Formats: sequence, structure tokens, C-alpha cells
Amino acid sequence: MRISFAAPELPSSGVVAVLVPEDAAPAGILARIDEATDGVVKRLLSSSRFKGKKGQLVELFAPRGLEVDRLVLVGVGKAEKAGALALEAAGGALAGHLNGAGVKEATLILEPIGDELDPASQAAHAALGARLRCYRFDKYRTKEKQEKKLSLTALTLGTEAREAAAAAYEALDSIAEGVFVTRNLVSEPANVIYPESFVEQARALEKLGVKLEVLDGAAMRERGMGAILGVAQGSEREPQLLVMTWNGAGEENSDYPLAVVGKGVCFDTGGISIKPAANMEDMKWDMGGAGVVVGLMHALAARKAKVNVVGACGLVENMPDGKAQRPGDVVTSMSGQTIEVINTDAEGRLVLADVLTYVQQNYKPATIVDLATLTGAIMVALGRKTAGLFSNDDELSEALSEVGKAVGETVWRLPLGEDYDRMIDSDIADMKNVGQRWAGSITAAQFIQRFIDEGVRWAHLDIAGTTWSEKDEPTVPKGATAFGVRLLERYVAEHHEK
Ligand code: BES
Ligand code: MN
Ligand code: ZN
Repeated sequence: MRISFAAPELPSSGVVAVLVPEDAAPAGILARIDEATDGVVKRLLSSSRFKGKKGQLVELFAPRGLEVDRLVLVGVGKAEKAGALALEAAGGALAGHLNGAGVKEATLILEPIGDELDPASQAAHAALGARLRCYRFDKYRTKEKQEKKLSLTALTLGTEAREAAAAAYEALDSIAEGVFVTRNLVSEPANVIYPESFVEQARALEKLGVKLEVLDGAAMRERGMGAILGVAQGSEREPQLLVMTWNGAGEENSDYPLAVVGKGVCFDTGGISIKPAANMEDMKWDMGGAGVVVGLMHALAARKAKVNVVGACGLVENMPDGKAQRPGDVVTSMSGQTIEVINTDAEGRLVLADVLTYVQQNYKPATIVDLATLTGAIMVALGRKTAGLFSNDDELSEALSEVGKAVGETVWRLPLGEDYDRMIDSDIADMKNVGQRWAGSITAAQFIQRFIDEGVRWAHLDIAGTTWSEKDEPTVPKGATAFGVRLLERYVAEHHEK
């Protein structure tokens, strides 16, 4: 979809939309529309449930006194609370509606609402919301009727702050691009995206100046990566360890303040501890963490972020097979620590273990954030809209929590501690890969923590609940969400670039 910015004038044809703050008398353009239509806006507000609340939307066809075909009023909620998220949600709700209605082009007139956000940013965030909603993975629908496809191809934002809004939007547009890169990767089925083809897709980052380093199975064997190799061993697909570096703070500066690590299980059958058939197809998105890492690197490189960041993905397929690892097998990780594999379905932590060791040994990052669709238990605890956060550092936790709130990707911290850690002690090896029934997300995090070196700041995001959405949300259509891209993009901007 094309986004453009223009002066805030009522068009003489087509579709026009206006944002309406909650419970406010029509002012500015709304007052003018009300006048031209002989009081339609005021009558609507007094005689219908539409009050400008967040999420409300009404549409009027060919309103008498106006030249436009449709007038869409979109509620934004209380003016004094009209921050970035409210504007994004309004833009997204509008785009969702227009796509469903078959509208191809529209103008959204944006007069300043409250003073939570400057007018240019208000317009830019409304545009971002609309753009984020205009995503649909329909490449495999060959017979779909045109009226089922997304219709909106151009949105013009009418604002007094036209130039500033366009400039503000530019930075946000690279975020949308990164989000789409992630959604595309995560939406693909596992016969299309497997470790090697994932790497091929990520190669597109080279055009943006990101450097790629790839380890195949043989290279992993040389380095003693027994944990990730154990997971991969039941699959016909060669595992890959993909490391991407973005040196936006300068080539000679080879310090890496931040590494972002993703679980990239391109399909998770559970292995010999095989999963039930129902919903197993969901396990194509068990590479969601890795997908976020690639989308994040895209967003950072596209806007030339002034920071050095390492992104690493452990890419495997977890399959049952004559060659697959068995429950009870003991593997030796790259760190030298041994692991008793009690349950082959707790494979994500095994993958992350070796990737984390490799990244720490080779790039010495001060801070690591890992993302993984790690446990079903995190959905039991937090549902489908909030990710689990685990960390060895209060400041890092605080920072991620704050940023999450600001971008609408919320995270909630859960505890770590010795009592939990003891739950993964093994009778035969240094640790086992699962605990008992309770606290499954925490014992998984404890396992990962055993691979974090002394002195390294670390946070783990369990995104199993948030990677895929069962329904349309204002800025996130049903399907792959890319949860984590916006969060980490903003975290980098606020905590590593300033
Ligand atoms: N990939 C799954 C977790 C998952 C489940 C993600 C549902 C998204 C939706 C992970 O590899 C897994 O199988 N975890 C097990 C761990 C258990 C064996 C300790 C789980 O959560 O059941
Ligand atoms: Mn699993
Ligand atoms: Zn998994």
C-alpha cells in the first residue's frame, strides 16, 4: 500500500475518513462536515452508540452536502490519551474496514488530537497502523475472488504538518518492512522454509549491508555443538547456524553491545516424544524467534541504525526417525556441559544452548536477548497477548517492559531462582532438558540461563503465545504477528543508540 501526505482538505470525491475523539463536541473539520451536512455528525453522536470510543467506526454513504462517496468516522478514544498506540489502532481499524469494503484509495484527514503526541507523529503513527494492518499472506491462494483480497492500495493522510509527518513516517516505514519480512518467513509452510531455505531468504539482508556467516552441520560437528546436532539428527534437512552482523556504529568498532538470538525450529513434530496430530501444523511457526531476528536486522539496517548488533538463529527441524535422538540420550553441548534428553520435544532450549555459546565465544556481547516459541506453558500463564520475560538483570527487564508497553508488545517478568534451577538437575548428566510438570516456562528459562556466561546481561522472551494471532487485531491481521520486532527495534533505539 502506498502512503502519502497532503494538505488537510476535504476531497471532492472518493472516500474520506476523519478521526473522532471520544465525547468531544465536533470541532475543526468535523464541525465543517457537520455544517455542510446540516447536522449529520451531531445527530449521529446523539442518536447512535458511536461516541468516538477506541475501536468504534461508522460509515455514511453519499452524505448530502458533501461531494464524497463515503465518509468514515473512526473513534480514537479520549483526546488526552491519544498517544502513538491509539493513533496506530485507529489507522489500523480504518485500513481493516476499507479492505473489507473493497475501497482502493482513501484520504484520512488528521487534525491534531490532544497533546500527548505532536501533530506530525500523530499522522505518522496513524499511517503506520494502517500499513501494518494491510498485510496478508495470500501467495498460495490461486483461485480467490478479487473481492476477498485486500483492496486498499493508497492512503493519503491530510495534515497541516505534512512535511514533518512524511519525515517521521520514513523511520517508521522501515519498522513495517521488518515486520513484513518476519511475517512472511513465519507464514511459510515447512516444506518451503527449512534451515537452508531460511538462510537463502535471509541473504536479502546483504543488500542492506548486513554480513552473514553460516555454519552447516559439519561446521557444527567440528565445534562440538552436540545439543543442536542432537535435535537435527532425525531430519533429512541440514541444520544451519546463521549469524548476521550489522555494524552501524562503524566497521573498526567490533564491539557488540547487543546480540539477539532466535529459536529457529522450522518444524517441531516433537521428535520421538512425538506431539499429538491435532494442531501440529502450528509447529511450522516454531521458528518465530528466528523470524523476528531477521526482521529486526532488516529494520535496523534499513534505517541505518547507529549501533553494532549481532543476530543469530539456530535453524533445525525436529523429526522422528530411525536416526533421531532418543529420550534418555546424553549429549555434550559446545559449552562442555552434558545434557540428558528426557523429552525430545523440549528441543528449543537444546538449540539455543549451542547458539548462545557460539555467540558469546565469538562476539562477546555485553547484552543478549533471546526469543523463542519455547513452551506451551507460557500461554497457560499469560495468554496470547503478553510474552514471558526472564532475565538476570533488573534494569534490562525494566527497559524491555517499558518499551513493550510503548509499542503495544507487552512482556511480563517471571521469576528465576535456585529452587527452579535444581529442578533440571540430572542423575546421569550435568542437567536434564525438562523439569517436572509445574513451572514449565521457568525451568525452560533456567536451562537457557545455564548457558549464559558470568557477567553477561541476558533476557529471554518466551513468545510461544504471541507469535501467531487467531484473529484480526487493529494493527495485526490474523496469522503471523512478528511480535518482538517492534519491541526490540525500539529497545535498540532507546537503549543502544543514545
Ligand atoms: N515449540 C514447542 C512450544 C510451543 C507449543 C510453541 C505450542 C507454540 C505453541 C516446544 O518445543 C515444546 O514442545 N515444548 C514443550 C516442552 C515440554 C516437553 C517440557 C511443551 O511446551 O509442551
Ligand atoms: Mn517441542
Ligand atoms: Zn519447539
